[in-house]
Amino acid sequence: MNRLIAPAMLTQTHAKAGRLADLEPVAEDSLIGLIALVNADSRPDKIDVGVGVFRDGVGNTPILKVMKEAELRLNATQVTKAYLGSAGDKRFAELLRPILLGHHAGDDRIAGLQTPGGCGALRLGFELIAKANPGARVFVGTPTWPNHPPIINAVRLRIEEYPYYERGQGVIRFEDMIAALQSAEPGDVALLHGCCHNPTGADLSEDQWREVVRVVSERGLTPLIDIAYQGFGRGLDEDAFGVRLMLDACDEVIVAQSCDKNFSVYRDRVGCFFVKTGSKTKTDTAMGHVFHRAREMWSMPPDHGAAAVHIILDDPELRARWLVELRAMRDRINAVRQRIAAADPRLAFVGRQFGMFSMLPLSKQQVLKLREDEAIYMADSGRFNVVGMGDGQIDRFTAAIIEAMDG
Ligand SMILES: Cc1ncc(COP(=O)(O)O)c(C=O)c1O
Repeated sequence: MNRLIAPAMLTQTHAKAGRLADLEPVAEDSLIGLIALVNADSRPDKIDVGVGVFRDGVGNTPILKVMKEAELRLNATQVTKAYLGSAGDKRFAELLRPILLGHHAGDDRIAGLQTPGGCGALRLGFELIAKANPGARVFVGTPTWPNHPPIINAVRLRIEEYPYYERGQGVIRFEDMIAALQSAEPGDVALLHGCCHNPTGADLSEDQWREVVRVVSERGLTPLIDIAYQGFGRGLDEDAFGVRLMLDACDEVIVAQSCDKNFSVYRDRVGCFFVKTGSKTKTDTAMGHVFHRAREMWSMPPDHGAAAVHIILDDPELRARWLVELRAMRDRINAVRQRIAAADPRLAFVGRQFGMFSMLPLSKQQVLKLREDEAIYMADSGRFNVVGMGDGQIDRFTAAIIEAMDG
């Protein structure tokens, strides 16, 4: 085992001193590996539905026009790049509150801080749980975003799986999910996707959210909601339904938010962490731990993206323009979904789902064959990004996957 991640070995004085040269190779992240494969393929008609970025009708991931404008304003008005502190841009976090928390925005038992993307917020959430309850088990849906388990492992919390999705049938295994959550003990964690589930696209209905919230609250679980695609599903408010319902019912809630997708600033690393406890004093104490961890890990978050989002949300005209561009992204996602769904009855489930991802009932061999024969790149699991391709590529894509499903 890798010495740098085996805590027991670090404390064994008799252990042979490790050298950097002794490190064993780490398995490559398969989605990052996929990007390299796509780049190396010189076929002009290749289709990359592997990577998780929004693409427009001609296959580009443009910078939003409103973001360009905000960056120009930022450039013209910023007079210093002095340190901001571990909380980052406080106004940024304040402006996000009504968008995410809705009628809970004014609740002083909820505090937040800017993080390096949704990943930073997730890491802080699990760090906080590990500090409060190192024995907590984290209930994680199967399948989930592949970066969840490594983040949870990094803070040494135990993972328990709950069934989430039946790939062949395109449905949520709701009864199994509830049964698994019923088996959790008070203080255990339920990791939930706020909307636009990655990798399946299968979101809980409002009634299903009500049931999950009931179980979480009755069992005394701590919900950690990962919301990385707010506004990509049904709308900003609709996509925050689960977050707000959970806040209605529970005293302790953690939310990890990413703005990297809905502001299209992926590489700028824009995210926000929120925590609620039963009182303002206890939330302040929890935030003390959060600041401490943030300081250890990244000291303070990168400023640029959050500063630009701050400018957009603080200006009514820019905010309105952002809503229009966000809507255009959402409309494209939903239109492409309908087009794929209409191509074959076996793909109808794609049209009932939300967000950028969906999972095809294809084996790994079929996925590899699509890569080789058709230059179509998707994750080994059959996850594909519905807006990974331009409009002109959709028919070729659906024809190829229908042929693959026909076997
Ligand atoms: C479900 C989910 N959570 C969190 C993230 C992290 O987002 P960020 O790039 O802002 O760290 C992603 C990104 O792909 C995601 O899909």
